[in-house]
Amino acid sequence: MSRPMPSESTALSLAADPSPAVEPARVPRHVAIIMDGNGRWAARRGLPRLEGHRRGIEAVRSAVRTAGEMGVGYLTIYGFSIENWRRPADEVSGLFGLMKRFVRVDLAQLHDANVRLRVIGGRTGLDDDILALLDEAQDLTRRNTGLTLVVAFNYGGRQEIVEAAREIARQVRDGRLDPDEIDACTIESVLATRGIPDPDLVIRTSGELRLSNFLPWQTTYSEFVVLPDLWPDFDAGSFHKAVAAFGQRDRRFGGLTAERA
Ligand code: IPE
Ligand code: IPE
Ligand code: MG
Repeated sequence: MSRPMPSESTALSLAADPSPAVEPARVPRHVAIIMDGNGRWAARRGLPRLEGHRRGIEAVRSAVRTAGEMGVGYLTIYGFSIENWRRPADEVSGLFGLMKRFVRVDLAQLHDANVRLRVIGGRTGLDDDILALLDEAQDLTRRNTGLTLVVAFNYGGRQEIVEAAREIARQVRDGRLDPDEIDACTIESVLATRGIPDPDLVIRTSGELRLSNFLPWQTTYSEFVVLPDLWPDFDAGSFHKAVAAFGQRDRRFGGLTAERA
């Protein structure tokens, strides 16, 4: 089972200028972000919601850069939830359009920066062109050794667990797995996030105190930092603030603090 690990610094060609603000030993290995507040950002300016999403892409670029500079190994971003299909059709298609543009415009640069892209989420409902782009991005960057950027797109945590249960049931049915041998590692091996360590830090912007179906299995021992910033305003300073808060946490994993153990 993937135990939360102490951070390890990752060599990144992206790393222009390692931040002096964060002591390397307290840099989380895996940061997962619920990017929330694009709509409110736009509404406050009298702009259409899509403009907030457009500006949100700039914040994604900045977050990827900052993660690389800090030596974070894995950055997961929640781009579109299964429940986001409940939004008006023009907003959904606008979001898909932005996702396609992001891959088209940024893929070469991400590849040059040694970023490995990984997409988690369902394929159902997505058009062939977007699926092809996401596949191309993963194939191109598969062997990169820098930051792993995990994009949760059309993702739902419960759906991921349902899929895992189905896969385990198939293995049992086919005689490949003994039910008595099923443990947490078995389940992790069939989740979309297999091979990715659990998030150490989950950041949510815009002040909302909920998970919204984001990585429910993987975040059982993650530290949560909720920032008031709306996602388009999230910058390197916000990221450093969240990581600094993480650095103050006493992670016990059900045990005792290091001094008392
Ligand atoms: C987050 O911003 C982006 C997505 C969910 C795709 P929202 O669109 O949820 O913004 P608010 O919460 O309405 O402000
Ligand atoms: C969560 O934000 C989904 C993403 C950030 C992609 P939402 O704005 O959809 O979450 P709720 O509806 O407020 O819980
Ligand atoms: Mg929202």
